[in-house]
Amino acid sequence: MCGITGYVGPRPCVRTVIDMLRRLEYRGYDSAGVAVAGRPTAAGDTDVEVVKAAGKLAVLESQLHDHWEKQGTAIAHTRWATHGGPTTPNAHPHFSNDGRIALIHNGIIENYQELKEDLIRKGFHFTSDTDTEVLVHLVDHAFRAAGDMETAVRAALRRVTGAYSIAVVSTHDSETLYAAKTASPLILGLGVGENFLASDIPALMRYTKRVLVLEDGDFAVVTRDAVSLTTLEGKPLVREEFLVTWDEQTAEKGGYPHFMLKEIYEQPRALADTFRGRITDSESVRLTELEGFTKDQLATFTRIQIVACGTAYHAGMVAKLFFEKLLRRPVSVDVASEFRYSDPLVGPDTLCIVVSQSGETADTLAALREARRLGATILSIVNVVGSSITRESHATLYTQAGPEICVASTKAYLTQVAALYLLGLHLAGVEARLDSGLLRSYVRDLTMLPDAVEEVLGRALLVEELAARLAERKTFFYLGRGYDYAVALEAALKLKEISYLHAEAYPAGEMKHGPLALVEAGVVVVCFGTQPHLFEKMLSNLKEVSARDGLVVAVVPENEHRADSAAEYVLRIPAVRPEYAPIVAIVPMQLLAYLVAKARGREIDQPRNLAKSVTVE
Ligand code: M6R
Repeated sequence: MCGITGYVGPRPCVRTVIDMLRRLEYRGYDSAGVAVAGRPTAAGDTDVEVVKAAGKLAVLESQLHDHWEKQGTAIAHTRWATHGGPTTPNAHPHFSNDGRIALIHNGIIENYQELKEDLIRKGFHFTSDTDTEVLVHLVDHAFRAAGDMETAVRAALRRVTGAYSIAVVSTHDSETLYAAKTASPLILGLGVGENFLASDIPALMRYTKRVLVLEDGDFAVVTRDAVSLTTLEGKPLVREEFLVTWDEQTAEKGGYPHFMLKEIYEQPRALADTFRGRITDSESVRLTELEGFTKDQLATFTRIQIVACGTAYHAGMVAKLFFEKLLRRPVSVDVASEFRYSDPLVGPDTLCIVVSQSGETADTLAALREARRLGATILSIVNVVGSSITRESHATLYTQAGPEICVASTKAYLTQVAALYLLGLHLAGVEARLDSGLLRSYVRDLTMLPDAVEEVLGRALLVEELAARLAERKTFFYLGRGYDYAVALEAALKLKEISYLHAEAYPAGEMKHGPLALVEAGVVVVCFGTQPHLFEKMLSNLKEVSARDGLVVAVVPENEHRADSAAEYVLRIPAVRPEYAPIVAIVPMQLLAYLVAKARGREIDQPRNLAKSVTVE
């Protein structure tokens, strides 16, 4: 998704906003640009200087030789094309016909076509195919009437419908940044004698730890020494400033060649952080985030509905099995983009659990709103503090993964599953559903997972051997039953998104209903066998595949040897409680996907066509 940065203060402004933009590269983009409203010079320059380029930031940087040390107020942008192709004219910033106003935007202006026609009738000319360009001409049009930038930006925004976060600079008012947000995230970074804005916190961390998260409908006027927040109509607002505890290094690669590998290796720590403070000395789970719900209230939730997208949906699939076993009540798990349009059967008796790393996924947010409209209580499991989903939930349980930069999710997934286990155990404890000794043993086994993951990572060399063997293969199947099917889905998603190889996951029993026809020599079939009560069934599926010359890789607990003769390759994982196997079984698969993608020379951290945070539908 698009990335926005902005700066007002004494530093070289282009250098600053481009440096911040680099820290948003993980969001995915196809063009970039920067605009500077410089101080008036002796030569009487009045235009905002705009430089933009299709392609990666390096292309833009190669055109900025004369600009690096510029003083002034700057905005910069990475664009992920929606309206109009990924070309230089379509890159942001867009600028007014007189060259004095520049604007960047993240989101979609829904009524841009009619606004564009109206502006063309009024004599404005357009240089791009974007929806965004209407906004800058609307500001210019309003400025001509009002003679004041703040009034003009507000007036322009009142005419648009859709989702946006924007930032504006102009030489009418060159020491002020204007910003507003209705949907996509926008954060203000507060300094001394300088201020910043960005789409996400990692962009700000090198400069300040003090941030303000704008909410939908907020309008900000930002100068070196002040930040004024109001509604679009001008009503004053107060937003709580908070201190970011992540340090800059946490958000950088820390010596690994890719963020993905770094994030895979951070998983033991991320898991331990997610458990920290939530497991008592007496081996029970205590979630203070849920203290607002009384036991009686929790008892009114006869249905549990989980909604999420992508990897977060796979975490939800694990939770469905876990909750149904522990809580003995129906749990549905739906992909958010389907749920939102499905006239869902949720109501005041439903606890709706919304799972999202970013907390900004448009479909997940819309599903949340639909569930809320129908009367459900919303409990979100989110990684990014202060994100939109958290703000619209009744309660939030934060995963403690820290910033996840690689588009392919790894540590966020593990911590989502961990947080969902905590939630299941908390609810089981409150409802006194399980024998207390059994419940304690569930909790005890949970605390062993960080070490178990560490152990898997210690065996990475074996995965390297396997990856070297598989890197040239073209087709992969991942098969599992029960919890293992959820793992299979996540493993296949990992491989396909970063290596661009064809990878499919199936419930193992489904193979004979069609997909088995595709199995022949050269096809790789990864079979998960972590569930003791399903192992024999899984073994039959594994044999069906090897009888058809598929290359079978078995992922099994270390004490399991029944698949040894039928599989060509056996990856052993620590023997944990079967319900917790998804946590340990996915880790070698993340490594496998990473190593295969690396061997194939893929970009890995920013796979083609994908974005970290999918803030449009
Ligand atoms: O930020 P979210 O967890 O809401 O994102 C949901 C999906 O877009 C995300 O999990 C996606 O599937 C990952 N790139 C997969 O690795």
